[in-house]
Amino acid sequence: MGPHALWLTEWLCEVMHLRPGMRVLDLACGRALSSIFLAREFGVQVWATDLWISATDNAERIRGAALQDQVFPIHADARHLPFADEFFDAILCIDAFEYFGTDASFLPSLIRYLKPGHQVGIVNAGVQTEMDELPGEWPPDFAAFHTPAWWRRHWTMSRTVQVERAEQMPGGRALWMQWNEAVGSENSYLTTEAGAHLGFHRVVARRTG
Ligand SMILES: C[S@@+](CC[C@H](N)C(=O)[O-])C[C@H]1O[C@@H](n2cnc3c(N)ncnc32)[C@H](O)[C@@H]1O
Repeated sequence: MGPHALWLTEWLCEVMHLRPGMRVLDLACGRALSSIFLAREFGVQVWATDLWISATDNAERIRGAALQDQVFPIHADARHLPFADEFFDAILCIDAFEYFGTDASFLPSLIRYLKPGHQVGIVNAGVQTEMDELPGEWPPDFAAFHTPAWWRRHWTMSRTVQVERAEQMPGGRALWMQWNEAVGSENSYLTTEAGAHLGFHRVVARRTG
């Protein structure tokens, strides 16, 4: 649904340990493209969970990919997930964590669904330096964009994880522009001076305790 889900998922998976048969939560999976990719590429089972896209809508796409026995569509709010504690071997979130994850209480509420010692990884849009003001041409929801260092601190302060990586994607802004061109969207906020701060980053951590 945003700058290409598969490009971002591939980059995140480079630094996550995924093995066949693992149970993976794809949080805020949108149209479940990343979920289908994860099942195909790594042989994992995926709980494809999203709020704005219905489970029925995703089920059709999953059936189209003949993965209905491996990818399970769930309609749920990230803040009220219907899973058992310690159910998942890995949790991923592609291009969405800033919608709910800036709240200090969110990571602790999510991490209970992950087995101790296992990984949670996110890739999302963000900034290269923290901004004191939102540039006029940016939409208000960009106020939730942060730097990798901000996320490292935010997650470390939760005392629930050990952060393994928090890093910018090389060429992230260019990738975003390439995506906008591919879908015929404007690049206006990316090409201004402030736009040079925009890009993507990945944050990967392991549950402690
Ligand atoms: C930019 S889209 C990204 C979707 C998908 N991961 C992708 O990369 O194409 C953001 C997604 O976040 C989801 N989302 C936003 N708030 C949510 C919440 N509270 N709980 C679950 N999903 C949420 C939306 O449903 C939407 O699909």
